[in-house]
Amino acid sequence: MRPRVTLKLATSLDGRIATASGESRWITGEAARAEGHRLRASHDAILIGVGTALADDPMLTARPPGQESRQPARVVMDSRQRLDRGSRLARSAGEWPVIVLTVQLPSPALVRAGVEVIQVHTGRDGRVSLRHALTTLRDRGFISLLVEGGGEVAASFLRADSVDRIEWFRAPILLGAEGRPGVGSLAVGELGQARRFRRLAAEPCGDDLWERYERL
Ligand SMILES: NC(=O)c1ccc[n+]([C@@H]2O[C@H](COP(=O)([O-])OP(=O)(O)OC[C@H]3O[C@@H](n4cnc5c(N)ncnc54)[C@H](OP(=O)(O)O)[C@@H]3O)[C@@H](O)[C@H]2O)c1
Repeated sequence: MRPRVTLKLATSLDGRIATASGESRWITGEAARAEGHRLRASHDAILIGVGTALADDPMLTARPPGQESRQPARVVMDSRQRLDRGSRLARSAGEWPVIVLTVQLPSPALVRAGVEVIQVHTGRDGRVSLRHALTTLRDRGFISLLVEGGGEVAASFLRADSVDRIEWFRAPILLGAEGRPGVGSLAVGELGQARRFRRLAAEPCGDDLWERYERL
């Protein structure tokens, strides 16, 4: 058993989530960001890769405009516990839960900061096993999981066929091939191997386009 997984992407028209230098704030506009906060508020947990944690130092809290929200748990896939204990995530761990999924024994520094460090199985690539990460989160009672990237983590979920829905906010700018891809390598050799989704809706969201898909 695994949680229901929604992948959220906020990209340029050509599917990039950051410039080559890693700048990503903000690609999409205010309306899309507000929807992003509503999405967070409607999930039990939010998950990112440590690449995003290091690049953006996000808080990952749900702040839907005009309303109080319960806070979902914040989860980082971080094989070697590179998350800085001075990061905004670690510093706020006493207030709202932060879980680090790692393949190592828990680092005392992160544990002291109030982060819950869970050792999971090692995948074939030496990183956190996605399958074990998902069953661990489900066993912890998380029914719904919002995956917010970055590209490597998004690709891992897609390769493992573990994305049930996609919420894609697309801004009317182009960043080109040197920008960071919203979805990393999927190792698709033939069209028949590609993951397919069915479009549920496409609507304007401020200056951006909000596309919603479900897994076929
Ligand atoms: N536009 C947006 O809204 C948005 C959203 C998110 C991110 N971003 C941007 O995306 C960039 C970061 O993306 P990224 O692709 O470099 O990093 P990422 O996907 O956030 O994190 C990748 C890292 O996660 C760790 N990891 C652990 N287990 C994994 C697994 N099973 N599969 C995949 N990764 C695993 C790996 O590090 P270890 O081997 O050390 O564990 C891996 O290097 C930043 O520039 C950020 O600004 C933009």
